[in-house]
Amino acid sequence: MCGIVGYTGYRKVIEVLFNGLTNLEYRGYDSAGIAVRDENEIKIYKSLGKLINLKNEVERCKSQIKNPTSGIGHIRWATHGSPSLINAHPHTCSCGKLAVVHNGIIENYKALREELIQQGCVFRSQTDTETIAHLVALEYSKVKDLEEAVRNSVKRLQGAYAICVMHKDVPDVIVGARKHAPMLIGVGEGENFIASDTPAVIEYTKKTIYLEDNEIALVTKNNVKITDINGNIVNKKVEVLPWEPVALSKLGYKHFMLKEIHEQPDVIRNVLNGKLYDIDEAIKLNEVKIDKEKLKDLNKIEIIACGTSLNAALVGKYLIEDFAGISVEVEASSEYIYRKTTTNSSTLVIGVSQSGETADTITAIKQAKEKKSHVLIITNRPDSNMARLADSLIPLNAGIEVSVAATKSYSAQLISFYLLAIYLAEIKNSLNKEYLKNLKHELIQLPTKMEEILSNTSNIQECARKFSSYKNFIYIARGINLSSAYEGALKLKEISYINATGYPAGELKHGPIAMLDETMPVLSILIPGGICYEKILSNSEEAKARNAKLIALTSSEDENIKNLFDFVIKIPSISEILSPALTCVPLQLLAYYIAEFLGKDVDQPRNLAKSVTVE
Ligand code: AGP
Repeated sequence: MCGIVGYTGYRKVIEVLFNGLTNLEYRGYDSAGIAVRDENEIKIYKSLGKLINLKNEVERCKSQIKNPTSGIGHIRWATHGSPSLINAHPHTCSCGKLAVVHNGIIENYKALREELIQQGCVFRSQTDTETIAHLVALEYSKVKDLEEAVRNSVKRLQGAYAICVMHKDVPDVIVGARKHAPMLIGVGEGENFIASDTPAVIEYTKKTIYLEDNEIALVTKNNVKITDINGNIVNKKVEVLPWEPVALSKLGYKHFMLKEIHEQPDVIRNVLNGKLYDIDEAIKLNEVKIDKEKLKDLNKIEIIACGTSLNAALVGKYLIEDFAGISVEVEASSEYIYRKTTTNSSTLVIGVSQSGETADTITAIKQAKEKKSHVLIITNRPDSNMARLADSLIPLNAGIEVSVAATKSYSAQLISFYLLAIYLAEIKNSLNKEYLKNLKHELIQLPTKMEEILSNTSNIQECARKFSSYKNFIYIARGINLSSAYEGALKLKEISYINATGYPAGELKHGPIAMLDETMPVLSILIPGGICYEKILSNSEEAKARNAKLIALTSSEDENIKNLFDFVIKIPSISEILSPALTCVPLQLLAYYIAEFLGKDVDQPRNLAKSVTVE
């Protein structure tokens, strides 16, 4: 979604803004803009579409730009008002002396807009953000102090915001404020940064200060002052980012998605590291801050998540119920928040999110906290808003994920659920010792099996080539791989815009079979030894009888598979219970190669954002 970067210091301001915005590009956007302070003026440049258009616009106007000393930049993902030049940020007040960029949604903007129009403000855009520009400018004209003007103004805003404000009469000062939307300061020497997310600053500094809700930051090149909503100074900790700038490089891969798919074996080693190292030892999960005696009596878990994280949650449910016998409900955050749930103080609520910033999940977690549930967060961003709400926090340690389509964070979420489910089973003594040992042994082997798949992807590329012209797919599976079918289909939809649906294989004949013919391939996930292996074979036969082209994703050595299926994607042999952690890889690759073959924008698919910070 939207991204913000601000800079004041000795470097080339426009270059810093563009680098910061480029590193936020992966979040998805439809327009972009910058405001720079240059020769005692605020100059604003905007463009529609990708950053390259903004660069061209700045290049076109370069004779007007002399020596900017500070600036703010923004990429916009339209919420209020269509993607257009006029709606792109930065926005200004009536006289153009002030510039503001904003992430989030101002819920009471209509009422504020009416009031500001009454006071003579001239609105140009349809955005909620423009009200902030007029509001702060009016306040500034009264109090003549930008920080105070921002403080007074944000007190009137309802909704979510991370904002950066500059004013012509306050040279090289950027004032930032936040509520329910992330914002951080990048601390430098003789320079400082402000941004909505760490990738925007990581090229320049690893030192960061995270703003909390209702805090205001006054940033100059030599100073950062943080105050609360009442103007009291807040002493903040400077944290050091765990990432290197190289995390934002493709390292020779054509796309971030492909790089991130290939990182998965190491990601899994990372997740297991320190938690599972010996098959005779119990899983160590010190991150779970619930007394073990209490865990023994735990009888209800709710998992809340969206998108890919929701698919990982379904595997989590299967595992926890299978291993520990604890009843688990999984629900999309956006559904959870608008109904009467039975969540209470004895429910363990697990929030799963790659970004830790997904608005629906944050709202759901807050509701669970109000009901006094213990909240366990599984996220790739221990620096996120969601992580800050956690009573227990399991960081994924997958490294920054740039591609909008989640891949390595999904496999890290799966492995976290395997560890959690085994941990609960060991506390409850609900699994046979031999079974546990085998399971742990297989988990340790998993990265090597993934590497086997990744070392030769030519067969998957061939499958992608053969099937890339089809407009509809059905992915079928049963049991624990049903979520693999959902996730595989989601990946294909997201990056190739092909209609793909994950379906329980047994449900095919209850409706979807009506759609089957030679134009709709069916991909079946078949793990030999699995409870429903034979049944899925029969379901595939039923599809074949309707002339559907069949693809098998399987570890089976059975020669008959080759006769039944039009294409076979092989994976190394694996037990059914662990197979989702392996089947995800070829499904990600299949989606990737189809999209790549069709020439799609793999890393930044249309209409999608990496972290969905609005409900
Ligand atoms: C994943 O490929 C998607 N882009 C999307 O479904 C994502 O998983 C969803 O928006 C949830 O995001 P989160 O994990 O950051 O909460």
